Amino acid sequence: MPHSSQLQSFMNSSQQRVNLALENCLKSMPGPDPKLAEAMFYSLTGDGKRIRPVLVYAAGNATGSSDNRLDTPACAVEMIHAFSLIHDDLPAMDDDDLRRGRATCHKAFDEATAILAGDALQTMAFEILSRDNTDLSGGQRLKMITQLSKATGAQGMTGGQAIDLAAVGNNLTLQQLEAMHGLKTGALIRASVLLGGLCNPETTDTELDMLDKYAHCIGLCFQIQDDILDVIGDTETLGKPQGSDQQQEKPTYPALLGLEAARQRAQEQHDLAIEHLAPFGEKANTLRQIADYIIERNF
Ligand code: IPE
Ligand code: IPE
Ligand code: MG
Ligand code: MG
Ligand code: MG
Repeated sequence: MPHSSQLQSFMNSSQQRVNLALENCLKSMPGPDPKLAEAMFYSLTGDGKRIRPVLVYAAGNATGSSDNRLDTPACAVEMIHAFSLIHDDLPAMDDDDLRRGRATCHKAFDEATAILAGDALQTMAFEILSRDNTDLSGGQRLKMITQLSKATGAQGMTGGQAIDLAAVGNNLTLQQLEAMHGLKTGALIRASVLLGGLCNPETTDTELDMLDKYAHCIGLCFQIQDDILDVIGDTETLGKPQGSDQQQEKPTYPALLGLEAARQRAQEQHDLAIEHLAPFGEKANTLRQIADYIIERNF
């Protein structure tokens, strides 16, 4: 992985921290149906990068929050992400069989169980935010719930996925493509950064606005790189089927602009993201390194 060892160690510790917290959440509220519980566990504990929780911790650190306040939002954004992946892979959507190096949820279990596991992970995210037992006030937690629900629903990820499906086989303009990506992927990345910022009630609206602008840019970078990797990556490294977008005539950056222009677009958004962090000074170094990582990653 071509990124700094400092970021590598931050990512490792954030991943370990959130993985433990996620397992604890699942164990503490398994529900009565063992198959459903197993499918939730399967999809949530798979080998993902945990970039959204990593962003919660990094934004939290940049705005002076303690780590213990960040665990719950870190779990919540990963639960929403896992839900979105389970549904994204279903036959009615991208119809993919491989995710994180193993069978997708509907292949390992069955379609109905996969749909239900996604549903249950989504609501679990909001349940844990609502009953968080740290010293964060109810008002502050409500702000997080508002951000995360908007990012997840028709105004966010779900809306973006609907546009993605409707766009298959159609030519989108760059503006339409970016609007779609901003919703289907960008919205949850923005929410991850904002939830981190909201863990300190002292974070100002101006700071939240700068964080949001940074997150918008890296959200686009993240999906541009995802689209690029679908073309140039390999299935084993990606842990998901390379070439799936082309096969399904998905609207992507490389399909619209070509690979080189897609890379340039990612670089432009990356540079803009870094500019928005200027007011935070050195406290935002990890967020800067994450922006580098997002366009350099190979899976
Ligand atoms: C894949 O997300 C889906 C997109 C939004 C592009 P990630 O690349 O974060 O997937 P994991 O969590 O690491 O498996
Ligand atoms: C997925 O975009 C965005 C989601 C909301 C899950 P993709 O369909 O490109 O994600 P991958 O490539 O299957 O991970
Ligand atoms: Mg998709
Ligand atoms: Mg997909
Ligand atoms: Mg993709």
